[in-house]
Amino acid sequence: MEHLKKYQWYKLAVNIAEINFSANGIAEFIVGGKTICMALHKESLFACTQKCPHAGGHLSAGYIDATGNIVCPLHSYKFGLQNGQNTSGEGYFLKTFPVEIRKEGIFVGFEENNLWNWIK
Ligand code: FES
Repeated sequence: MEHLKKYQWYKLAVNIAEINFSANGIAEFIVGGKTICMALHKESLFACTQKCPHAGGHLSAGYIDATGNIVCPLHSYKFGLQNGQNTSGEGYFLKTFPVEIRKEGIFVGFEENNLWNWIK
């Protein structure tokens, strides 16, 4: 059903070089007053909420492991950057967002129907 979703797209940067990634490959962006993470892994970009779904750890202070999981700095739960799956098995789900690299810049998409539900 992914193809039926409608997104509102926000431009985050002109290009990858403009993004201020920390040494862990993660950058924070404020979009609509809320904070998300942009992660760079094997030359691909991924976006997710900044708060860990377990207990609110700041994922921007975590790290990305070799298989493309973002690892929370508080309790080391792991989430796949591609789909938010809790790969360490605790049963949580990390909200992720599509990223598009266009000639006009780098965009992140939020579902139109429940644009801000993920930040409650
Ligand atoms: S707050 Fe992230 S693993 Fe516990």
